[in-house]
Amino acid sequence: MPVAFYNVLLYKINSMAKDFSMVATTLFGLEGVLSQELQQLGAKNVKEGIRNVSFEGDLGFLYKANLSLRTAIRILKPLKKTRVYDEKELYQQIQRIKWERYLDVDSTFAINAVVNSKHFTTNSHYISLKSKDAIADYFRHKYSKRPNVDIKNPDVRIHIHIQKEYLTISIDSSGDSLHKRGYRTATNIAPINEVLAAGMVLLSGFTGDENFIDPMCGSGTILIEAAMIACNIPANINRKKFAFENWKDYDEELFFTIHDALLKRIKSLHCKIMGFDKAPSAVRKAKQNLINANLEEFVGVHHVNFFNSKKEVFGNTIIMFNPPYGERLSINTEEFYKNIGDTLKNHYSGSVAWIITSDIQALKHVGLRTSKRIPLRNASLDCRFVKYELYEGTRKAKYLNNELN
Ligand SMILES: C[S@@+](CC[C@H](N)C(=O)[O-])C[C@H]1O[C@@H](n2cnc3c(N)ncnc32)[C@H](O)[C@@H]1O
Repeated sequence: MPVAFYNVLLYKINSMAKDFSMVATTLFGLEGVLSQELQQLGAKNVKEGIRNVSFEGDLGFLYKANLSLRTAIRILKPLKKTRVYDEKELYQQIQRIKWERYLDVDSTFAINAVVNSKHFTTNSHYISLKSKDAIADYFRHKYSKRPNVDIKNPDVRIHIHIQKEYLTISIDSSGDSLHKRGYRTATNIAPINEVLAAGMVLLSGFTGDENFIDPMCGSGTILIEAAMIACNIPANINRKKFAFENWKDYDEELFFTIHDALLKRIKSLHCKIMGFDKAPSAVRKAKQNLINANLEEFVGVHHVNFFNSKKEVFGNTIIMFNPPYGERLSINTEEFYKNIGDTLKNHYSGSVAWIITSDIQALKHVGLRTSKRIPLRNASLDCRFVKYELYEGTRKAKYLNNELN
């Protein structure tokens, strides 16, 4: 039996049966919700890091995690963890991996390197080139041929992470970032990242037992993520491709068994979910994205100016939105945020409102007392995700005109 074939066979048998370590990366501030998601899915040994959560599971769990996790950006499978102090050692460590288990000479690969170490003074791009050379040389030496690099659409993506002297070499099971769910074909001026939107909905504690309104819904991302949570629809069920489908141990039958089992857990919607936007183009885009997500029958989107709106759904209601903010959309911030506070106070009492914004100063113009303030990041912007409890009746809305939130 040729050695390469034997190596792959052994790898397949091992990876099917055994639990292995994985790392799910996420956005700043969502580590806690991601860790909860993982525990609910059945991950073992879940540990929160900074912008990542590590865990253990088997091959089936890797498929389940990619299909289900709402707050993961990608799921990596570490192949090697060791210490390195210079480029020569890095090169040697990379060459010690049996790369034919993961790559063929005629497949393509790409390397993403993140380096934060005083031992490596060159930039991450240089380290990724060095790592690429090590893999290419490995194949050239053993097979007189080497796989090519394809930065945009590789068969296999490899991650090199160096923190101080700690090196982790991982293979990326997701491919394109998991925020690319597959439903958002129409985007507005400033769409929110799907992973961040899902994280916000989960942080709010929304389960589908309350009504949900996004009164400035843009392309509908928050609404779609909320509806998927309410119906228990796996986050990435609409995605066309995961990187693990190119892996040598890919088990298509196992993948579809897991895929179908997750579909069976979808439940019907028991609450009202609706969105408003004052821009007709945004309403059209949100409706298109809802169609893409097969949710158009469950979520209503209306051409409404929030400031002229009234509460039309009753019972427990969560209002959640990312209003326009200075950096991206030009508005009179003070007046706009004051209008938000007035509308919430006058027309939405009895609800809970959540706002995310990077314009932290603008929040003081809302004039309502926040009951929670969670730091998050939207792309490169530091944000606050704040909660307002809009009491009804005798427990009137706490309206604090001059409070600096
Ligand atoms: C930052 S975008 C929301 C992005 C959205 N979360 C998404 O993922 O696409 C803000 C939206 O608020 C809308 N908007 C601004 N003022 C509004 C108002 N008074 N009533 C309703 N919508 C408003 C804008 O048209 C824009 O679509």
